[in-house]
Amino acid sequence: MASTVSAVPAAPADPNALAPEVWPQGAARDAEGRLVVGGVDAVALAEQFGTPLYVVDEAVVRERAERFREAFDAAARRIGSQATVYYAGKAFLSTAIVRWVTEAGLGVDVCTGGELAVALAAGADPSRLGFHGNNKSVGEIARAVDAGVGALIIDSEIEIERVAEAAARAGRVQRVRLRVNSGVHASTHEFLATAHEDQKFGVPLSRAVELGARIREHDSLEFLGLHCHIGSQIFDAAGFAESAERLIAVHAELDRVAPVPELNLGGGFGIAYTEADRPAPIERIADGIADAVAAACEAHGVRVPRLAFEPGRSIVGPAGVTLYTVGTVKPVPTDDGWRHYVSVDGGMSDNVRTALYGAAYTVRLASRRSDAPAALVRVAGKHCESGDIVVDADWLPHDVGPGDLVAVAATGAYCWSLASNYNHVPRPPVVAVRDGQARVIVRGETEADLLARDAGIDASDGIEGTPA
Ligand code: LLP
Repeated sequence: MASTVSAVPAAPADPNALAPEVWPQGAARDAEGRLVVGGVDAVALAEQFGTPLYVVDEAVVRERAERFREAFDAAARRIGSQATVYYAGKAFLSTAIVRWVTEAGLGVDVCTGGELAVALAAGADPSRLGFHGNNKSVGEIARAVDAGVGALIIDSEIEIERVAEAAARAGRVQRVRLRVNSGVHASTHEFLATAHEDQKFGVPLSRAVELGARIREHDSLEFLGLHCHIGSQIFDAAGFAESAERLIAVHAELDRVAPVPELNLGGGFGIAYTEADRPAPIERIADGIADAVAAACEAHGVRVPRLAFEPGRSIVGPAGVTLYTVGTVKPVPTDDGWRHYVSVDGGMSDNVRTALYGAAYTVRLASRRSDAPAALVRVAGKHCESGDIVVDADWLPHDVGPGDLVAVAATGAYCWSLASNYNHVPRPPVVAVRDGQARVIVRGETEADLLARDAGIDASDGIEGTPA
């Protein structure tokens, strides 16, 4: 995992500065010093929608989706092939997002019936959807087949029969990919390559030829090719290249029996959460992967297949910021001096990544600029848990205080999608900003929403068992 909390960042020259690699493209401060995203200022957003608030810059999502499609397509064309890019919906899925990415020419990768429902509700072309999951239910498989999804990704031997039966029942020929475990595991600066990777996804590469043949025995299945996903928050092409080389050796064996049209190398492209994160530009990564694919195909005497990718975080992550209101500020003595705990009105229920992965984030004052010197802060949430940290270590102007708005950068991916109702905190709304306009794309929850699902409450007379 990149951007882990192990390092305290150096004090910034200016704690008001908005590093362009971390904040949504175009984010700036207005004349009053307020943070402006998508042409809308943070104070106006907080007044209209309250805090905590997820803000997503629509133009940035659309631009990134287009940029990724173009980068992979250009790299693939250079080696005589084509590329398909699927947006990995697990990063953040709503019907608005599906429309933005599909209008940019991307397909969508879903991995549950719920994600499928959102993509279909948005009007996505089912033939441009991929359906993943290591334990799809029989019902989910049937729904995906009936909906006409472009490909189901078979994740285990057992699923071959399940998908074949569902397709036969529906009178369809279902396109499938076979997810393999390439033995490559990558994150940020390095990748690990072993004979086997000890995790739940995919089938061992050593069984791919046999299982590919099994898929081909079914008239109701059409084998598209191999799939693998090697990790998350990866900053360069090396791990993808290693994995592609391993896969192409097996792909070539399968291709000798009958043409294998495609190779899907998954997602995992990294973003900058802090200034310390330096992901290579996607064009360079795409070129590095394409070169490795071309060389491996030549070595194995096989045509270059169509390439497919599934970026999630890298499409939506940099487009999002979360706004919070500061409630309390507390200096706490530490072994090295003082740490300022800045407590905000959200926390691990809207961003669990810090608690779950030790992820690092960047925080800035959003409602004003300040000339006060920088102080080392830890942004904590409001939950009853000491691990409820949003930003483990960053710097804010020393005069940060109650009522200030703060913004946390790069929260567009895996924050809303991993949100919870811990401590019965309603999940915040998501607001899209564009050209100075803001609109809700996911309504926030209310306490009434939470109570509505409590079966102990009788709508007519209040809480069950409570005397009227
Ligand atoms: N394709 C497959 C098959 C995947 O399993 C994933 C992510 C992706 C694509 C998209 O990966 P991305 O480009 O977004 O890195 N909750 C974690 C990340 C889990 C990723 C799971 N699979 C986090 O917040 O860092």
